[in-house]
Amino acid sequence: MNARRLTPELLDALPPDAPEARASRRDLRALNAVMGHRRAWTRWLRSEPRPRAIAELGAGDGAAFAEQLLAAFPQGEGGTVFLVDRAPCVSAETRGALMRAGWRVEVEAADVFEWLAVSREVDAVCANLFLHHFTDDALARLLAAAARCTATFAALEPRRGWASLAGVAALPLMDAHPVTLHDARVSVEAGFRGSELSALWPREGWRCEERRAFPFSHWFCARRR
Ligand SMILES: C[S@@+](CC[C@H](N)C(=O)[O-])C[C@H]1O[C@@H](n2cnc3c(N)ncnc32)[C@H](O)[C@@H]1O
Repeated sequence: MNARRLTPELLDALPPDAPEARASRRDLRALNAVMGHRRAWTRWLRSEPRPRAIAELGAGDGAAFAEQLLAAFPQGEGGTVFLVDRAPCVSAETRGALMRAGWRVEVEAADVFEWLAVSREVDAVCANLFLHHFTDDALARLLAAAARCTATFAALEPRRGWASLAGVAALPLMDAHPVTLHDARVSVEAGFRGSELSALWPREGWRCEERRAFPFSHWFCARRR
């Protein structure tokens, strides 16, 4: 499995309320736990200073991000969470849980390129299972735009490789929806390895960390020096 291969994901083309989309988002929540993403994000967030403003790009229903943020910082103390997605479907429950803990919640229905084009400053920008949607050219533009908005950027993405494909082959065992089965396979094919994201990140004045995140994922973090 050499070069990245991009194939449109079915979930992206479904109306957020379609039963197939709901089923696939439910699978995504389970997958985030099985792949260790929840634990990894909570651990990483806990190691960061409490953000005054933090964004998730491609947040979808924002449920996993909200849970991790609440686990890491149970008191938002007026901090703002931006949940950015071109088709957001954040439930009243997710929004309510964040607000009760003192977070301001901004659900931003926007294409990420438009959202990042507006001049703003957030302490951290996060992406979970999102960057692999884009070609390298688009990603270079996206990452450059993100670097103008924040001093800390972190992403957890599918890792392109045979171990991840073996994981995809096991998905029917957890009764995953056909949309999930399709999207999981194409996500691995579009995933990352080596230092592919560091190579796309603007070079000057940043420290990048990029590595495998066991078992099936790929971690990237960039910090302004
Ligand atoms: C695989 S889902 C991941 C959702 C969430 N981060 C999670 O881990 O559960 C990818 C999300 O990216 C969103 N998306 C795809 N392209 C986008 C774009 N250009 N701008 C904003 N959102 C986008 C889709 O609507 C979808 O909700």
